[in-house]
Amino acid sequence: MTICYFTASGNCLYVARRIGGTLLSIPQLMRQDTIEIEDEAVGIVCPVYACEMPMMVREFMAKAKIVTPYFFFIYTFGMGYAAAFAHVELAARKAGLKLSYINAVQMVDNYLPVFEMQNQIDTLPQKNVEGQIENVCRDIWERKQTVVTVTKETEAEMATYAQRLAVPILRKDTAQGYIVNGNCIRCGICARVCPASNIKVTDKVTFGSSCEVCYACLHNCPQNAIHLPVEQSSVRFRNEHVSLKDIIDANG
Ligand SMILES: Cc1cc2nc3c(=O)[nH]c(=O)nc-3n(C[C@H](O)[C@H](O)[C@H](O)COP(=O)(O)O)c2cc1C
Repeated sequence: MTICYFTASGNCLYVARRIGGTLLSIPQLMRQDTIEIEDEAVGIVCPVYACEMPMMVREFMAKAKIVTPYFFFIYTFGMGYAAAFAHVELAARKAGLKLSYINAVQMVDNYLPVFEMQNQIDTLPQKNVEGQIENVCRDIWERKQTVVTVTKETEAEMATYAQRLAVPILRKDTAQGYIVNGNCIRCGICARVCPASNIKVTDKVTFGSSCEVCYACLHNCPQNAIHLPVEQSSVRFRNEHVSLKDIIDANG
């Protein structure tokens, strides 16, 4: 089994590890000219962003040649995912893939403009993350099949969410609004955890215009020096089972 994953604060890496098999980082795969993956089961684990998949994961699905009789997709999310499953079904169809199984695991919501991180961390036990992951693992081991039906209503819902959420939230120039405060010691960790290689650290930190809006730089800065103009919390989050080195290894 092969799992391709995208992670910023570690939730997806943790879920991918728990499912098992060979783990491949999507940001690293995307730096290759061609991507070919063949296995008896191939899956993607990624976060929900604005009720769909991260931009890079969508690009990955279009670019990769995946050959497998069992293709599965697992989202991690915090609050809700609306038509996110339908986005996967349509992207899979476009890529000539049959989606065999899809599910989602509710974890900490790391979206700083809306959620207070300490509150998210404190209420985590109520989400029974381990129980959710065990169900997903069992389903995949048993090669369970699910069906996502995309009706005209679903497509209308997707378009609405795209307008209201995805377009305003997922903008490649977003990082240019990030604030780097005086705590910054120019250690360069932000550049090493960025999946899009969008950050340069010289005598100052500069953001380019290919931001994935994943907040890996904000959540993993050891000095807590990177901030949004409007954020609910100065507390940051990384999944308790995942280290800073794990994120650097995944995205750097
Ligand atoms: C830009 C952005 C948008 C997000 N949008 C949603 C969303 O629409 N619904 C949701 O439930 N969680 C949303 N989240 C939360 C993440 O999906 C969730 O925290 C995920 O588990 C993070 O995975 P990671 O730790 O592997 O990066 C969003 C996070 C970010 C950074």
